[in-house]
Amino acid sequence: MSVGVYAPGRVNLLGEHVDYNGGFVLPAAIDRYLRIIAQPVDGDVITLNALDLQQQVSFKIANLEVKQTLTGEPLPGWALYPAGVCWALARQGFHPQAVTAEYTSTIPSGAGLSSSAAIETAFGLLWQVLGDWQIDRMKLAEICLDAEINYVGVNCGIMDQFACLHGQAGHVLFLDTQTLEWEAIPFPDTNLVVANTGTIHQLGAPSISQYNQRRNECEQALRMLMQVLPGIQSLRDVTPDELGEFEHVLPVILRKRARHVVEECRRVQIAADCLRRQEWREFGNLMVAGHASLRDLYDVSSPELDALVEIAAGLPGCLGARLTGAGFGGCTINLVDRNFLEPFIAGLGEGYRQMTGREAGIFSVRTSRGAWVENSINTLSPFHSREGTGGWVIS
Ligand code: GLA
Repeated sequence: MSVGVYAPGRVNLLGEHVDYNGGFVLPAAIDRYLRIIAQPVDGDVITLNALDLQQQVSFKIANLEVKQTLTGEPLPGWALYPAGVCWALARQGFHPQAVTAEYTSTIPSGAGLSSSAAIETAFGLLWQVLGDWQIDRMKLAEICLDAEINYVGVNCGIMDQFACLHGQAGHVLFLDTQTLEWEAIPFPDTNLVVANTGTIHQLGAPSISQYNQRRNECEQALRMLMQVLPGIQSLRDVTPDELGEFEHVLPVILRKRARHVVEECRRVQIAADCLRRQEWREFGNLMVAGHASLRDLYDVSSPELDALVEIAAGLPGCLGARLTGAGFGGCTINLVDRNFLEPFIAGLGEGYRQMTGREAGIFSVRTSRGAWVENSINTLSPFHSREGTGGWVIS
């Protein structure tokens, strides 16, 4: 028996670095996918074959804690994600089935499009199906998050795992990361463009330390603000007025971080209303303001990301542009009037080449459903993605 599982990447339209502060986010799953095909096997050994990397590794379920291969070498970084999900499921009392699994992906890796969360959620779903367990998707997202924080070591929020599992074609997701209440807001489909700076961001290393440092800074700021605002539980509970009144208790760096979080939470709430009313221009302006805040207050942008946003903002048909995901390299997301899609993509590529001497990977994306299972797949040959559309041709 073979089981096939697909999991999408995601973009985040607004609400960056707020999901670990109890804030609001607006991600959408996109039509770039990780695909696994797996066979259950007897015994205790998991064998992973990462086709795109042309690497294979085997390890024992009983040995997950030590993060070693069968031959005693450290597990390679890419294998930590599936191994971590197996470990996190076991922590919840589940007994994941031994498998041989191959996988391939058209989600650019390390580019801020949740290639890691796609791996985690796809493997989570795989083990769920093989074990016939009833786990609701939010719970599965939390288990995958546990893997990422406590096994891989990235102290992230739940946005990516949530988006990969809850995506809906034609919709953007509005998630309150404090209550985990969410809503799918209709979104017309052909005007999202991703631009990849080509500069790798890898939360696993070395920017893991910068990402985790941001979270530490927010936690420090929260502790200090709690002294003067005893009612708050997270930075999301602080209003812009309250921050204005009390930010003098914070050192300058923490003041900047807190200001980003507090204002970004307000921006997302206003942006969700714009989406409901389909007011794209106002929504786009909020994206641009969000980028400026990530650049100037949160210090997670890069010259390449800033260049892409600046060039995009000057092109006809551009409604909004900003970095998406953690930053430190990776991609921008652009909201583009559909009548200008082709000249926009050409103009952005040309402008980036002129400004930086680099080639950007630019492609339009569509919103997608969340991860799903297909039992009818029997062979897995590497996918060929149709550059420019983000679509698939199955060979
Ligand atoms: C990464 C993390 C998310 C989120 C974003 C920034 O994608 O995995 O949890 O914090 O960065 O918004």
